[in-house]
This record gives sequence, structure tokens and C-alpha cells, in this order.
Amino acid sequence: MLNSASARAHTNIALAKYWGKRDEELIIPMNSSLSLTLDHFYTDTQVTFDDSLTADFFELDNRILPATKLTPFLDLVRQKAGIKTFAAVKSFNHVPNQAGLASSASAYAALAAAASKAAGLELTRPELSRLARRGSGSASRSIYGGFVEWQEGHDDLTSVAVPIEEETDWKIGMLAIILNAGVKKIASRAGMQHVVKTSPYYPAWVKESQADIDALKQAIANRDFTRLGEISESNALRMHALNLAARPPFSYFEASTIRAITMIEELRAQGVSCYYTMDAGPNVKVLCQEEDLPTIKAYLAPAFGTENLLFARPGQGVRFLEGDLHG
Ligand code: PMV
Repeated sequence: MLNSASARAHTNIALAKYWGKRDEELIIPMNSSLSLTLDHFYTDTQVTFDDSLTADFFELDNRILPATKLTPFLDLVRQKAGIKTFAAVKSFNHVPNQAGLASSASAYAALAAAASKAAGLELTRPELSRLARRGSGSASRSIYGGFVEWQEGHDDLTSVAVPIEEETDWKIGMLAIILNAGVKKIASRAGMQHVVKTSPYYPAWVKESQADIDALKQAIANRDFTRLGEISESNALRMHALNLAARPPFSYFEASTIRAITMIEELRAQGVSCYYTMDAGPNVKVLCQEEDLPTIKAYLAPAFGTENLLFARPGQGVRFLEGDLHG
């Protein structure tokens, strides 16, 4: 058997975040989340099931890496397809790796699509979303484009992403300020596990999440950018407050994170509509409307460098690619 397939998936930015699991193995979250898929950051992955292999093999950006993390995920695919063949996985990441820009979202969404197709499975998008979720929770949302909700559900079947508005004509986007492109200090898996166990604010976080999602959906339907920004910013701050309140406490913020946040607040005080959000890393992502992008970039560039300001528009869901990947 030698069967190959390739797929591209884009990363996403959570506006109402997932930060805690109810089920560690199935990756069932404590609360639903809502994100925007982004066009600029994506992963291309080719999976080849090959009878001549004696173990799974992984190559990322032309570098050979241990396949230890991938094998349990590929086992799920093999189990579904009723095969035992090992696979060669070749990926090219167009996302600053592990810097809290959720490269795991695009990585596992692309892997779910390519691996299932190469194994001979023809999965629907809800099935792909459930499979991608097993690799990384946020990957469940990257199956779809535009605005996406991952409904928490209560088991493998019901915990799945659904599109809210796949192809949005809204001229908004996210400007990522890359403050530190290095590997994050605390993996999201460990960070969220710790807050669920020790943060006294955790029940309040779960309760408020649903209200945020409902309000975000309204803001999307009404094209109300101010409301969308306010809710997203407040949701992000509450997620990071969980970390600060954990025992022992931790934080993904660096000095430059606070500096970037302060500058966004200054811009807003000058009448520019822009809001910030942060994930499991120090980088700050600015939600804005395209018309304000030149002003925002001009304000931030002297402090952070133009090369560290990366803008992304709403992006597409996962799709299959033809032929072999060459980077
Ligand atoms: O899916 P993971 O394990 O990479 O966790 C993602 C967590 C956040 O990015 C912080 C929030 C989210 O909903 O994407």
C-alpha cells in the first residue's frame, strides 16, 4: 500500500477562547469557543501510508523530527480505516511556530484531512472537525473558514465545530505583533490543566463564556465591530486572569506584551477602533478593520519593526491539494 494525500489548513484566532478540558483524552472542552479563521497563516501537510515503513516518519520544514506526538493521532486514523500501515508525514508551516499563534490548529486540521484521505476514508467536515479536535482542540475550528463556533458538546459526537459565517465580506482582520517567535514557556495543555485545577475564578470563566459567544454572534450578524472588539478583548483578559489567579500563578505576558497593549489603548484613545487579544504566548494580536490598518501599523512600526507586524484577513477552511508538496 502506498497512498498519499495533501491538505492545507489555516490557523484561527479565538475571540471567545477555549481554556480548559472536561475530558483530557477526547478533548472535550469546559466551554464552547468562537474564532475567526485567518488567511495568512497556514500549514500544508502530505501524508503517505507506505508498507515499506517500519515506523511513522515526520518531516517539518525539511527537518526530520521525532514522530512521537503524531503517532497517537495517526493511530486514530488507522483504527478508523482498519489499517496498520505506518505513514510518512511531511509538513510546511507558514505560521510562526509555537508562539501562541496556534500553529497546532492549522497543523492538526491539515493532518486530519490529509491522513484520513490517504487512509482511504472520506470524512465529512463534521467528522474531520471531530478528528482534528483529538490532535488539538483549536484545530476542530480550522476545518471551516470565516467565523466558527466549537460547540462544547458532551462526547465525541457532539463536541464539534460549526460554521457561523464561512465566507465573510466583512473587511476586518488581525494584525499579529510578533514580540517573541520562540517556543512558549508553558504548553497550552499544561497551562489549562493547571487553571482548571487551581484557579478560583474558573467557574466564573465558564459561566461568562457562553454570554460572550452569544454577544459575539450578535455583533457578527450586526457587523458591529466595536462590540466584537470589546467582547474579544475582555474575554482574552479574563483567560489570562485565570492564569494569574492560579496556584502557583503563571503568565504568558512579557514586558513587550504590556507595551503593545498600552499602545493599542493609546490608539483607541485617539479614536482608532482596535482591540487586542492574546493566546498561550506573549504575542499580541490586534483586531481591526482594514481601513484602519495603515494608521495602526504606522503607530506600532517604530516600536516593534514593520517585519514583526503581520496582517491576516478572514481565511478559508481546510482543502485538499494536488500533487507532492515541495514547500
Ligand atoms: O488547541 P490548543 O491546545 O492549542 O489550545 C488553544 C488555546 C488558545 O489558543 C489559548 C485558545 C483557543 O481557543 O484557541
